[in-house]
Amino acid sequence: MATNNPVLDFALSCPKAELHMHIEGSLEPELAFALAQRNGIAFPYVDSEALRAAYNFADLQSFLDLYYACADVLRTEADFRDLMLAYLERAQADGIVHTEIFFDPQTHTARGITFETVLKGLEAGAAEGNARFGITSRLIVCFLRHLSEDEGFAMLAQVEPFIDRIHGFGLDSSERGHPSAKFERLFARCRALGKPVVAHAGEEGPPAYIYEALDLLKVSRIDHGVRASEDPDLMQRLAREQIPLTVCPLSNIRLCVFEQMELHTLPKLLEAGLKVTLNSDDPAYFGGYLGDNIRAVQAAFDWDAKTWYKLARNSLEASFASAEQKADWIAGLDEQFNSLAV
Ligand code: HPA
Ligand code: ZN
Repeated sequence: MATNNPVLDFALSCPKAELHMHIEGSLEPELAFALAQRNGIAFPYVDSEALRAAYNFADLQSFLDLYYACADVLRTEADFRDLMLAYLERAQADGIVHTEIFFDPQTHTARGITFETVLKGLEAGAAEGNARFGITSRLIVCFLRHLSEDEGFAMLAQVEPFIDRIHGFGLDSSERGHPSAKFERLFARCRALGKPVVAHAGEEGPPAYIYEALDLLKVSRIDHGVRASEDPDLMQRLAREQIPLTVCPLSNIRLCVFEQMELHTLPKLLEAGLKVTLNSDDPAYFGGYLGDNIRAVQAAFDWDAKTWYKLARNSLEASFASAEQKADWIAGLDEQFNSLAV
């Protein structure tokens, strides 16, 4: 919907990619209740309002506890399809043309749901989303870092028969106490399979965790990375190597990484020339989708259209889409930017 602010309108409507979004984190309370009912599961909240009231997090772990509990309502291929389609419908409203979606297979296989069920459901939702909204989607399997590397290898063995349908691998869940170094062999295997790898690093963990993700896991992008600002050498390296950072502003506020948006390191990261992208992380839990993140950031920093152009362009360039596809999107972005009268 148009606002009376042309810069914000441009930021919201221009073509962009979302590269850091956990599909399980897009499970809205209303859908969670509908799926619980459909699957005959008792839910420990009386209604979606009561569930939403529990979204009061002190840190990453307090969020993850609820996030994994809610994921229990996802049981069938149709559940995963519905989840994906609901997200893509929201994504379209925010100008998203391409999305690279994280999912956590270990959360589901631990409950007896096969990897194939999850994959087929997500693919069905993505295919329907592409037909209805024109959005292209890729799937990134995330390993849970609070589990062991051996458990990661066991998961990878279940993924390998479907490897052509997976576009990359990531690392998520509890960061503190679970540095990237724990997964060096597993990520080497993922890269040997010809897939790009990414990792959450520097969300709650210190800059050392970002160095490990770069040097030991050899990631193509850093998810979050907002604590890089504490290390000037790391800032210089990230800028020089143009390593994309998938920053999630509302997530960082809701998980108390920063007290308020005005204290976020985003302006510092941008001023230092880092390849920053904006993303929603777990939109159902953190107060909104990509558009809500854009509105919150703009309210705090009042950036000009050029900055928003740069962020959108970064997201398209940092994606794993083909060079031709990127050039096409960027041409559309350029056209919209050049027609702006601000
Ligand atoms: N950080 C780590 N793990 C996660 C997150 C996050 O923000 N969201 C879902 N899993
Ligand atoms: Zn995340």
